[in-house]
Amino acid sequence: MAIIDGRAVSKSVRERVAKETALLKEKGITPGLAVIIVGDDSASQVYVKNKEKACEEVGFYSEKYALPASTTQEELNALVEELNNRSDINGILCQLPLPAHLDDKEVINLINPIKDVDAFHPISVGAIMIGDYKFLPCTPAGIMELIHSTGVDVTGKKAVVMGRSNIVGKPMAMLLLHENATVEITHSKTENLAEITREADILVAAIGKAKFVTADMVKEGAIVIDVGMDRDENGKLCGDVDFDSVAEKCSFITPVPGGVGPMTISMLMQNTLTAAKLQNNLD
Ligand code: GUN
Repeated sequence: MAIIDGRAVSKSVRERVAKETALLKEKGITPGLAVIIVGDDSASQVYVKNKEKACEEVGFYSEKYALPASTTQEELNALVEELNNRSDINGILCQLPLPAHLDDKEVINLINPIKDVDAFHPISVGAIMIGDYKFLPCTPAGIMELIHSTGVDVTGKKAVVMGRSNIVGKPMAMLLLHENATVEITHSKTENLAEITREADILVAAIGKAKFVTADMVKEGAIVIDVGMDRDENGKLCGDVDFDSVAEKCSFITPVPGGVGPMTISMLMQNTLTAAKLQNNLD
């Protein structure tokens, strides 16, 4: 069994982005990312801080809009419209979840698809469905990079994605399908779950339940990707996979932390670079 080092793969993506950014800057173009955060959700604050840090690291311009929880839909919409019209801002990201009185769909729909670096807009989602996309959803795209890092060809493999969220599960299944895997999605209503997961050559767990995936649910020699960010019974950070028992059975596994997590922000950097190139007719 080998552990997939998400920090190392993430670093190599960022180095690639930083190199390309340096070349763009010689042409007078600096990729710019605007990040909007509403309210004071502590996990979101950490994510947003890490996004700003990553921008600095690769040489982007970034702006953070930390709005109070009392922000109205009209105020939020007006900010997105303003950022849509700014030529120095190539990517717009509104950190989710939003406070309950705000409609995330309305905000996502307002972001100009050419600046949709999260790939959450229905136009981006549709483009992924037909395999003709500009922006890949960050977490699934990061997972594909991790799978590629193993050197295993996805073609013809049986892949099982546990979880059907719009952010991870559904786009993950699409990306695996584009690479010719035979894909199955499981969810909370799935019957005989372990029978299905035991057939997976590639198993992606994105369910949000601490240590839910146990060794008896995993095929010998499988690649196991853990998207979970959960807390165990002692309050310690852990994933959806029971790492210690599953690690003994699989060929490759991602740890938590240090697996999928570091990849998501690196892919956001990649998307922002793509956005800057597209908006300057360089792609
Ligand atoms: N909240 C959790 N993950 C994400 C993400 O990838 N993008 C945004 N905008 N919000 C999130």
